Amino acid sequence: MAFITFEGIEGSGKTTQMQLLRDWLQARGEQVLATREPGGTAIGDRIRAILLDPNHTEMAAETEILLYSAARAQIVRQIIRPHLEQGWIVLCDRFFDSTLAYQGYGRGLPLNILRDITAFATGGLVPDLTFYLDLPVEVGLRRKAQTPAEWTRFEAETLAFHRRVRKGYLELAAAEPRRWVVLDAGQPAELIQETIRQEVLARGVVQA
Ligand code: TMP
Repeated sequence: MAFITFEGIEGSGKTTQMQLLRDWLQARGEQVLATREPGGTAIGDRIRAILLDPNHTEMAAETEILLYSAARAQIVRQIIRPHLEQGWIVLCDRFFDSTLAYQGYGRGLPLNILRDITAFATGGLVPDLTFYLDLPVEVGLRRKAQTPAEWTRFEAETLAFHRRVRKGYLELAAAEPRRWVVLDAGQPAELIQETIRQEVLARGVVQA
């Protein structure tokens, strides 16, 4: 049983990497669930729509963190915990580290308050392993600009905002090196995936 999360700025390729890992684990006969935040439940998907609607420019930072946390509280209890308890490997595209990076470092909300709210929302659940796909923000945003259908309120943010988010991720990763694996997202996707699989094997999530 393992809980593995994927983090990164927009356009970092984390979703693709998570799906490749899911396919590989499934092919090995593992029970694996891949999900995403915000979303992953009917309630979470409705909250996601409110959060990401580009028209909601008036949303206060405090509203934003509480909505992300509400979606998180639901997915933890409805999906993630029950699967972990039944021995599944659970992969999640973003988790509370996104809140610390975006609402904390990006928006400037106090990290200690965010950590308290997060702990309440998750019931203390922390990933066993977190892959962070690191990329210069210009490159990530350029990649994302090619798929306007996926634009959210966050694509409208300034470069400075995304730079603070990236810096935040790097600080979070440096503070907990045993949980985080920092990957250069500028590498070819197959190479990144290879490193991810090696790490999953090395940590005994699955047997070699
Ligand atoms: P994604 O589909 O790229 O993962 O988009 C989700 C957006 O939500 C992304 O811009 C990051 C943002 N986000 C936060 O700001 N805080 C959070 O806690 C989470 C989970 C996502």
